[in-house]
Amino acid sequence: MPVTDQAFVTLATNDVYCHGALVLGQSLRNHKTSRRLAVLITSQVSSAMRAALNTIFDTVVDVNEIDSNDSMHLALLERLELGVTFTKLHCWTLTQYSKCVFMDADTLVLCNIDELFDREELSAAPDSGWPDCFNSGVFVFKPSLKTYNLLLQFANEHGSFDGGDQGLLNSFFSNWATTDINKHLPFLYNLSSSVVYTYAPAFQYFGKDTKVVHFLGPSKPWNYKYNPQTGTVIEDSSSSLSNSQLCFLQLWWTTYSSDVLPLLEKTQESSEPQIQREESVQKAEGSLEVHIAEPSESSPEPTFNPTPQETVKMDDVTSSVSELCIQPNPEVLSAEDERRKWEEGHIDYLGKDAFENIKKKLDSFLL
Ligand code: UDP
Ligand code: GLC
Ligand code: MN
Repeated sequence: MPVTDQAFVTLATNDVYCHGALVLGQSLRNHKTSRRLAVLITSQVSSAMRAALNTIFDTVVDVNEIDSNDSMHLALLERLELGVTFTKLHCWTLTQYSKCVFMDADTLVLCNIDELFDREELSAAPDSGWPDCFNSGVFVFKPSLKTYNLLLQFANEHGSFDGGDQGLLNSFFSNWATTDINKHLPFLYNLSSSVVYTYAPAFQYFGKDTKVVHFLGPSKPWNYKYNPQTGTVIEDSSSSLSNSQLCFLQLWWTTYSSDVLPLLEKTQESSEPQIQREESVQKAEGSLEVHIAEPSESSPEPTFNPTPQETVKMDDVTSSVSELCIQPNPEVLSAEDERRKWEEGHIDYLGKDAFENIKKKLDSFLL
């Protein structure tokens, strides 16, 4: 039964973040949420994107951009672009709903999470950088114009210690850390894909139950390239991703290429022609890469023309999350990659690069 007075809410102030919002919305649909889906957008979002958002979300709400303009704190956060996350505050104006769950546009849902609506305002998971603060990428809240106005007043009087919404919200809901343990969501509802590194044994033990992945940080899934023919994310030579990170990226791209891209093609056809967001790059060896360009005034016309994809059901994908992401995955590398790893000093002394194996190889050459 649909629950019409509760909603998942996200935010996209430009077309690039819309790609994330579409994947998030689609992932909630794939896992059969019974709640409404709402997205907040600003005037920068193109009409083609609005059309695409309208097919996945029940409500697309135009709001004014709010920018903290606090470059000092944002510089400390090393994310000068996040001043506009103050726009998130508009979510408290959605008073047609009695309760909502806000989710950043860079999150991805791996299973049904409707049970979050049993929690009260303000429930959120700890931030991996400072666990006495909550991460504002996923939180349960109650829309209220009174709270909205108090938040704006608080922002004017005190600002935000990180220049973005998270600093502000943590100061406003300052008793989160100490008062009610029910307002602490398990970390699995907002697992930062990059922390898998910082406590690998915990990830190996608990990670199979991950419910929401958050691609927190400056590198977003849409900054990577993807080969739709092989269904793989193409790693930049400068990035060093763990298997689990790569697996989560892969999940994002699977949803993007099987559900969102076909939708964007359709809505772009029926919209005015100044949409520039996808580019295709024809590689020498004939494989196709998808690359989402950052928005710019003088972007070229779209040239993207993907090959038809086999539809992958999300349930098939997520049932394999534990096998794909959690198990230490013995890497199969090309000879060239093997050599690069060696030269970079990543040597598997106890495994395939063990003295015994190298000796065997040398012996085989000598013979
Ligand atoms: N956001 C947006 N436009 C921007 C930057 C951020 O719409 O230019 C929204 C979007 O929903 C995004 C959220 O604000 O997910 C928080 O930003 P981000 O996820 O980049 O921050 P992080 O989680 O990496 O700290
Ligand atoms: C965080 C949160 C994000 C927030 C940003 C700025 O890292 O993940 O949602 O917008 O900080 O405060
Ligand atoms: Mn985020």
